[in-house]
Amino acid sequence: MNAPTRARESSAKPKRLRDGLGFFGTFLKNPGSVGAVLPSSRYLARALVGRLELQPGQLIVEYGPGTGPVTAIVRESLPTGAKYLGIELEPRFHQLLVHRYPTMDFHLGSAADVTKILAERNLPRPARIVSGLPFASLPPAVQDAVITGIVDSVRGTHADFRTFQYVHAYGMKAARRFRALMAERFDGFERIGPIVRNVPPAFVLRYWGAK
Ligand SMILES: C[S@@+](CC[C@H](N)C(=O)[O-])C[C@H]1O[C@@H](n2cnc3c(N)ncnc32)[C@H](O)[C@@H]1O
Repeated sequence: MNAPTRARESSAKPKRLRDGLGFFGTFLKNPGSVGAVLPSSRYLARALVGRLELQPGQLIVEYGPGTGPVTAIVRESLPTGAKYLGIELEPRFHQLLVHRYPTMDFHLGSAADVTKILAERNLPRPARIVSGLPFASLPPAVQDAVITGIVDSVRGTHADFRTFQYVHAYGMKAARRFRALMAERFDGFERIGPIVRNVPPAFVLRYWGAK
């Protein structure tokens, strides 16, 4: 009875290990833009994605999918007919994602260009954006450009934007700067967690009502 579960777990472990090593290697090359030493756990990924109640034709956009732990949860819960686009800056991760999730769409580029990317791909405005971007380690100009892109793409809609911040870095200047800017641009805010079954533990932040 338990054999299929064991088989799934034993094939998942080498993949997690491989992803962990590859992710760490990419972090060493680009510490600022990767911003984490390990991919997110499925507990954090589930909390980040939340309940996906999208209608057919509605779009969810993922920023910075990395090796795809959040993408896997979106794929599990994406309603039939709903659309997905992942935007990833790092070519190595982009290549891996295209190979690993052949039924999903990925754009190689910066989340700061989201409005242009959606227009070029003839996609609607997002109903949800989930982000793995390491805002606390991004330069202020990149933070600003990404926030402008989020607001421009969801203003006047019921969309929400969800991201996470590590508990140990929550009080850092750059993390506080990001939350202060988001508070100016969004009416609604909720903090979920901490999600302790993640290395390191993290809060999920949810924003809605872009102004
Ligand atoms: C902290 S990792 C998160 C990876 C994955 N979502 C996870 O939770 O394990 C940050 C990811 O954001 C990507 N990234 C950084 N800046 C970006 C940008 N401006 N646009 C798109 N992706 C970006 C990095 O290459 C990396 O894959």
